[in-house]
This record gives sequence, C-alpha cells and structure tokens, in this order.
Amino acid sequence: MKKIAVLTSGGDAPGMNAAIRAVVRKAAYHGIEVVGINHGYEGFINGSIEPLDLGSVGGIIQRGGTKLYSARCLKFKEDAVQEQGIAKMREANVEGLVVIGGDGSYRGAMALVKKGFPVVGVPGTIDNDVPGTEYTIGFDTALNTVVESIDKIRDTATSHENSFIVEVMGRDAGDIALWAGLAAGAETVLIPEEEYNLDEIIARLERGATRSKKHSIIIVAEGVMAGSELAKLIKDKAGIETRVSVLGHIQRGGSPTARDRVLASRFGAHAVELLMEGKSGRAVGIRNHQLIDYDMTEAFEKHHESDVGLYTLMKELSI
Ligand code: F6P
Repeated sequence: MKKIAVLTSGGDAPGMNAAIRAVVRKAAYHGIEVVGINHGYEGFINGSIEPLDLGSVGGIIQRGGTKLYSARCLKFKEDAVQEQGIAKMREANVEGLVVIGGDGSYRGAMALVKKGFPVVGVPGTIDNDVPGTEYTIGFDTALNTVVESIDKIRDTATSHENSFIVEVMGRDAGDIALWAGLAAGAETVLIPEEEYNLDEIIARLERGATRSKKHSIIIVAEGVMAGSELAKLIKDKAGIETRVSVLGHIQRGGSPTARDRVLASRFGAHAVELLMEGKSGRAVGIRNHQLIDYDMTEAFEKHHESDVGLYTLMKELSI
C-alpha cells in the first residue's frame, strides 16, 4: 500500500486530532503517503483531499475538534454516491481509508468495504457507545468536562441549598451520565439503558431533606428526557423546585486528556498496521487494556450496553 486517506465523521470528539496525527506519522514511518479528506463523507464524495505530511500534523495533538472537519452525510447511504466517492479516491491513487467516528460512520465505511474499497474504523465519539470496544476517543475528556462542571454546580447548589438537574449528552447511551454520576457523587442518575422511577427520585430528594441535606444533584442523559421535562415532572408530582443546567456542546470541545491522546495515538497507529496487513472491514478497539480489531459490522449491528455493575454501585453509594 503506497497511499491511504483519513477522515473524521459524525460528532467531533477531543482526541480526533491525535488520531489523525498517529495515522499520518505511523504511515510516514513505513513510507506510506497520507491524504486528509475534509468534511467526512461529504469530502469523500467530492474528492476534497489534502496531502498530510509530518509537519501538517505538528502541534495538533493537544487540540480539541478535528482539523479535517466533520459532518453527518445522509446522502452517503446511496449506492451511486458511494461509487462516485470510490472513483474519486481511485483517481487520486488512494488505496485504503481510515474512518474516525462512531457506529453511524462505520455503517458508511462498511458499504465501501462491500464495494471492494479497504477501510479500517477508529472509534471516536464522546458517547463511548461503540459496541466492541470498552473506550472510544473523546469519552475521557468529555467525562472530565462534565465532572468539573458538576463540581462547580454543586458549590452553588450547596450555598443556596438548591437541587439541580444537570442534563448531559448521550442520545442512546448513558456512559457520560453514569460515570460522571459516580465521579461527582450525584444523588440520582437517569440513563437511557435503565428504567427510571419518578417516585424513587422524589423519595431520594425527600430523604435528603429530612437529613438536613438541602441540595441534591440529579444527572439526566438527554436520551431519557430533557432536564426541563424532569424538573416539571418532579414539581407537578411533589411540589419540589429544582434548577436545571444543560451542559450542551461544551462537552464535545476542549483539549483532550492525556488518556484520550494516548488512546487515539494507539488506535490511529493500529489502524495503519491493519491496512498494511491487507485487512479491511475491521474496527480497532480496546478490551482489558489490549488493542484489538474486530468485524466492523459488530459495531453497528449490536447494541451498546451500559455497565450494570457501575449502575448498581452508583445507586448503592448515593443512598
Ligand atoms: O454523538 C455525539 C453527540 O454529542 C451526542 O451525545 C449528541 O446527542 C449528539 O452528538 C449531538 O449532535 P449534534 O451536535 O449534531 O446535535
């Protein structure tokens, strides 16, 4: 393999730049040329590529976002559009592709694989919801951002004896909410993977109040419901006032943590190794601290599962 391409797709995640850098530097180490595709699959279709040399990925390991821009490209589901993109890549002598993104991005990648174009996937999403890998690039940074924000909210909640509902990202997955709940000592966490019980949430708030604990933190993953909706349910049923804070897109930005930079570097380099070995349709991941690769189809055909043990622990510790 003499020339490969790299793109980022879906929601951006801190550490994507570190992964791009690893792809470029690992490939350069083995004498392989790399081009960057801008704007995800949109750029793949239009042949929007730029050469990436050692210098062009210098000074980006610490930067959030993605230097290659990202997009969600609905028309990439169409056969003709995929073929147009493959033709553009072949014109540019690109022989393989590294896709950095979430499970939706893998779906597009697999369509290319089926058409004979080699692709390897690297999991990059703050949601940590790509089946097959224990961690995705960006999760650790987002988690730290959320925990830092909740610590600050708790300061003011304590001073004013308020109860707060903090809405965090996670449309289908509750990892950010769950891990942040444990790390920040939240009283209640609502995640899409587990049923919630409004009476139990209210009972916890009331129990806290009788112990003269007048502040409380409830974390709700956006996939369950909006923070404002939960506040209304609590007010309507128990007359308890809560304040709502929606953390929003600050969770997706910022300089990646050391852990995300290391993970991204390992993933990016491993993706290049797989392409060099002639592998395609594989996703890189990590399990029990070991780098792995597995069939990319698994990542979008299986469902993300939350860590039941962590959820139980969270409930036990927030008694
Ligand atoms: O996939 C990552 C994510 O941040 C989700 O947690 C969130 O639901 C979604 O992206 C928001 O996407 P957008 O910025 O496109 O609204």
